[in-house]
Amino acid sequence: MDGPNELNEVVLPQTVVAPLTRAAIFLVVSIRQDQDSYALLRSFFADLAGLIRAVEFRDIEAGLTCIAGIGSDAWDKLFGSPRPAELHPFREIRSGDRHAISTPGDILFHIRAKRMDLCFELAAQIMERIGDTVSVADEVHGFRYFEDRDVIGFVDGTENPRGDAAREAVIIGDEDPTFAGGSYVIVQKYLHDMKGWNALPVEAQERIIGRRKLSDIELDDAEKPASAHNALTVIEENGKELKILRDNMPFGRPGHGEFGTYFIGYSRTPRITETMLQNMFVGRPPGNYDRLLDFSRAVTGSLFFVPSATFLDNLGEAAPDITAITESLTSDTLQASSAPDTSLRIGLLKGEKDE
Ligand code: HEM
Repeated sequence: MDGPNELNEVVLPQTVVAPLTRAAIFLVVSIRQDQDSYALLRSFFADLAGLIRAVEFRDIEAGLTCIAGIGSDAWDKLFGSPRPAELHPFREIRSGDRHAISTPGDILFHIRAKRMDLCFELAAQIMERIGDTVSVADEVHGFRYFEDRDVIGFVDGTENPRGDAAREAVIIGDEDPTFAGGSYVIVQKYLHDMKGWNALPVEAQERIIGRRKLSDIELDDAEKPASAHNALTVIEENGKELKILRDNMPFGRPGHGEFGTYFIGYSRTPRITETMLQNMFVGRPPGNYDRLLDFSRAVTGSLFFVPSATFLDNLGEAAPDITAITESLTSDTLQASSAPDTSLRIGLLKGEKDE
């Protein structure tokens, strides 16, 4: 490998750090288990940036972005070794009646824009390209609700890190140099018991969230219970707060009694979001859990790695050479590698030293 500093200068992340938008589509798909599907998807990923640009340019002001994340099993089958250091399947949590469920999904597309029609068009173009190689595990169309509120009526997103702090929180650096510029993302789809929630006095709702409902001002320490959502999701290590970047979206179908929040949290290590989930579902200390979960049920849960945009672009450049490079490897080199035969040995293609 050329060394982390050199790598950091040239690697471009995907558009993880982006402003909150008025619309989003969360599309999770599972890959059909055959080699043709994996091959097609590899070439699709190399073209994805071009596809996004084409739809984005139809209204450049609308700020269309799309992030692709890859699940743990899919990573091995698509790209082999090396693997992102902390990529693993979503770890479910059970405690009392609460269950952070783990559900299938190989690829996440997180599509955002000021206009839903652009999100819709890009999702359609993506499915046109990959529809035959995947089955859809989940698709949620989210919308901004009044002043960035979730459907339970509270402003959501206030304490997100911004600017450099956001980049610092979500973009992998020297800790995993091969995957610098990448990120991890955890998604969970929550459904709310709106009748139960609305039956609570506003003051009780405010103690659950830890903020005032109308003004969004944080409750002071004397008033805020240790079980408040914004108490249990504040994580400190060595006196420093460890942040994630959220872009939750309301969704729902009132006609079906469905009211939900799609939680999405990016971070440079999944450990932070996992600790927050542990605090919410089990409690800190155990038993002191997040009362929001008495009214909100997680119905999906998945963890994905978001490779850098440069990594995806390089797949295109690399593709024609893969066979040649793989064939040119001596059997000694192959034996020395722990990579399965299906490995694309992306590191080698990027001129990195084999490990
Ligand atoms: C039902 C799903 C959820 C809803 C409706 C929800 C709603 C909210 C609201 C209203 C706030 C206060 C405003 C803000 O700072 O954004 C908040 C804060 C926060 N939430 Fe959630 N949330 C949900 C799930 C989660 C999950 C699953 C996590 C992490 C695993 C999480 C992590 C956080 C964090 C880190 C904060 C900021 C805490 C602070 O620094 O004050 N949330 N959430």
